[in-house]
Amino acid sequence: MTKVQLKGVRKDFGAFTAIENIDLEIASGELVALLGPSGCGKTTTLRMISGLEVPSFGSILFDDKDVSEVPVQDRNVGMVFQRYALFPHMSVEKNVAFGLKVRGTPRPEIEERLQEILDVVQLNEFRHRFPAQLSGGQMQRVAIARTLITKPSVLMMDEPLANLDTKLRGEMRRFIRALQKRLGITTIFVTHDQVEAMELADRVAVIFDGHLAQYDAPDALYQRPNSIKIADFMGATNIFTAKVDASGQAQTSFTTLKLGPDEIGQGSRNASVILRSEVIDLLLTAEEAPADNTFAGVVTAREFFGATVNYSVTCGDEKIIVTEQSRRLVEIGQQVWLNIQPDRIWLIPEAA
Ligand SMILES: Nc1ncnc2c1ncn2[C@@H]1O[C@H](COP(=O)(O)OP(=O)(O)O)[C@@H](O)[C@H]1O
Ligand SMILES: [Mg+2]
Repeated sequence: MTKVQLKGVRKDFGAFTAIENIDLEIASGELVALLGPSGCGKTTTLRMISGLEVPSFGSILFDDKDVSEVPVQDRNVGMVFQRYALFPHMSVEKNVAFGLKVRGTPRPEIEERLQEILDVVQLNEFRHRFPAQLSGGQMQRVAIARTLITKPSVLMMDEPLANLDTKLRGEMRRFIRALQKRLGITTIFVTHDQVEAMELADRVAVIFDGHLAQYDAPDALYQRPNSIKIADFMGATNIFTAKVDASGQAQTSFTTLKLGPDEIGQGSRNASVILRSEVIDLLLTAEEAPADNTFAGVVTAREFFGATVNYSVTCGDEKIIVTEQSRRLVEIGQQVWLNIQPDRIWLIPEAA
């Protein structure tokens, strides 16, 4: 499998700079998600890795070899897009075998690889059907099979699940994840959906406005975002400004929070504290509350999601969202106490 590197990559379209100074290393066999809002430069980055676009500056390396100027047909990459673009008048097997046929691969070899790949994507029983006779998920699997049959060294997928309904998307994510691990193929997956990126990827590259904002494992990105913008994009709802002192206490407008040991003795500074909604405990009596980091509030709104429920708890002038399992439901108007353990508070320096 292939290691992919981007070094100081930039892409200009006329006077507009779409991508600036991106350094990224994707290990051999790794699944990396490029994540960011629409227009941030994900597709442009993917197109440069594939060879459909040439970087304006910087270089792209496959296994330490500079391929920046190598055209797409000579890079041995496979691409899957949101639109499947299957041939409607061809059966599943003809669609899947198409790439090998145009390359003049001998018939017995085509037959062997077809059998293998249809097994992998679980489409053997549908091989004689036409695209119009398939579900969205099945069509997407045909598109994936059609790409994989050419044995690409890097697989690239650009928002491939965006057209599918929620349940099917979940199934397809698990399918792609399992397939990628089984084949061990270096994979770059573009999405604007942070949940999708976290579920699928070994590492996630967050891109904002053409810049690489953070490159980390999903849990690190979620629990330890390096800026407020990333915290916000990853779904953090409780972000408050605070004054931190040398003893490791953060003074917010609604309470003083004791921080984890890493924050002690670092001098006083301004910062933002992030209290993730699912690590805050909601208590109905003050007696059961731990002494540290407990503060009072009133439930002012409730959002029910089935398995979980979000409470808006008003504490002083702030609103804090708390996510709980819905097996217990607390009424609006109820007085409550919130508690958060010091080591579960994440701090972002003021400048970030
Ligand atoms: N061929 C092009 N010419 C001019 N501008 C482009 C071209 N391709 C992309 N862009 C611009 O570059 C930015 C990034 O686009 P794109 O990579 O498609 O974003 P994403 O895939 O993250 O939604 C957008 O502002 C887009 O309009
Ligand atoms: Mg795009």
